[in-house]
Amino acid sequence: MTAQLDPRGDVAVLVPAAGAGVRLGAGGPKALRLLGGEPLLVHAIRRVASAPSVSAIVVAAPPPDVEAVRSLLAPVAPVIVVAGGAERQESVAAALAAVPRGPDIILVHDAARALAPSALVESVAAAVRAGSAAVIPVLPVVDTVKEVDAKGVVLGTVDRSVLRAVQTPQGFRRSILAAAHASAAASLTDDAGLVEKQGVPVTCVPGHEHALKITRPFDLAVAELLLDQAQ
Ligand code: CTP
Ligand code: MG
Repeated sequence: MTAQLDPRGDVAVLVPAAGAGVRLGAGGPKALRLLGGEPLLVHAIRRVASAPSVSAIVVAAPPPDVEAVRSLLAPVAPVIVVAGGAERQESVAAALAAVPRGPDIILVHDAARALAPSALVESVAAAVRAGSAAVIPVLPVVDTVKEVDAKGVVLGTVDRSVLRAVQTPQGFRRSILAAAHASAAASLTDDAGLVEKQGVPVTCVPGHEHALKITRPFDLAVAELLLDQAQ
């Protein structure tokens, strides 16, 4: 069934989905790889679209697949699909340029985090609504972390208690994200990194284990096991 987005919602979600999925191995663009018989992107969009605050969704698709992605998502939710770029940051910028007027909160969410629950979308949006300019969902780092040199010799042990592993969706006041992208120079792997460079404080909310990034074949296997409980 096609989800309806509430036009009164104050949140637009950008979903970069234009990556090749090199680390996942052969099988086509990662966003179109199957999980439980459906593309990762379908799982991600279904969860985003069921978050009540979301009034617009913009997907950045691999350029050759824009029409196929439009057809794929039409029965899932009303989404705008644009062509992504060579780097994730370019894909986010292309999606940002296509956001309709209205929503004052913008979330950026990787298609690769296909099982991120809609409750996480809402909690990130709520933290922006409550006054934070930039919000990231994080989990504590569970492994001991070492700093090593180029030869693999340990230089020291990092204090794990001050480290966090960062997920998406990341949330921003619209003007803050637009300004960060307008002045972006170096390519970074997350959007909060761009905002940090602008000197804007970034705050954390609790992440969710189901928001794991599907990067390697092992992650896809884990996601298959989680599918029944990750609704
Ligand atoms: N992404 C994108 N445009 C790019 C590169 C990445 O929209 N040029 C998106 C991916 O589709 C993914 C998210 O950014 O949803 C996170 O990137 P990553 O997990 O690195 O995905 P890929 O780049 O596809 O994977 P790999 O790096 O293994 O090729
Ligand atoms: Mg990548």
